[in-house]
Amino acid sequence: MQNKEKTTHVHRFAGKGVCPYQYAFTLLIPLRNLVLSPRKLLKMLSLQEDSSVLEVGPGPGYFSPHVARAIPKGKLVLADIQPEMLAYAKKRIEKKGLRNVSYHLCNGVTFPFDAASFDTIFLVAVLGEIENKDRYAAEFYRMLKPGGLLSVSELPGDPDRMRREEISDLLEKEEFSFDRFFGSRRNFTIHFRK
Ligand SMILES: C[S@@+](CC[C@H](N)C(=O)[O-])C[C@H]1O[C@@H](n2cnc3c(N)ncnc32)[C@H](O)[C@@H]1O
Repeated sequence: MQNKEKTTHVHRFAGKGVCPYQYAFTLLIPLRNLVLSPRKLLKMLSLQEDSSVLEVGPGPGYFSPHVARAIPKGKLVLADIQPEMLAYAKKRIEKKGLRNVSYHLCNGVTFPFDAASFDTIFLVAVLGEIENKDRYAAEFYRMLKPGGLLSVSELPGDPDRMRREEISDLLEKEEFSFDRFFGSRRNFTIHFRK
């Protein structure tokens, strides 16, 4: 790796903006469970076995296999803006023999999925990294079924972490209704309904 390139993504990793795929391994450290474990996330999401779920910004898929396993008759779509992250997640998921997962490389603005096609959309440590937050919020609303759940988790130590109030402002402009709040100011999951 060239020194200049290395310095640039070290800087990007520590600062604001899209988390560089070169640091995907840091997202797979089991110590993360102390902050938010897949089990805790699943409990909050209350999925059905046939739910259709969109995970935006899965990175290397720390949560994804657990979600896929919880919806054996449903489908999970992973949508990330970095192809390397999707490739990483796909490799991990295929190794576990999970077949109800598909992958979408985001263009940063719109999604190719039909209106009202998902029961649940969730993001963990992603919303603050998204450049076109308003466009994404509108797309989330369009893609959710009526009554569908949008779940946003924010974790401590993330340079892009958004405050609860900022998230509510963004989503309530799109007609989302606040549903539930779990956790604390620094480490939380907030739910909205269409
Ligand atoms: C900090 S990582 C979190 C990964 C994963 N959710 C987790 O908690 O392990 C943020 C992820 O969001 C993705 N991302 C950033 N902007 C995005 C966008 N506009 N659309 C889709 N994914 C995006 C990044 O590529 C990265 O994989």
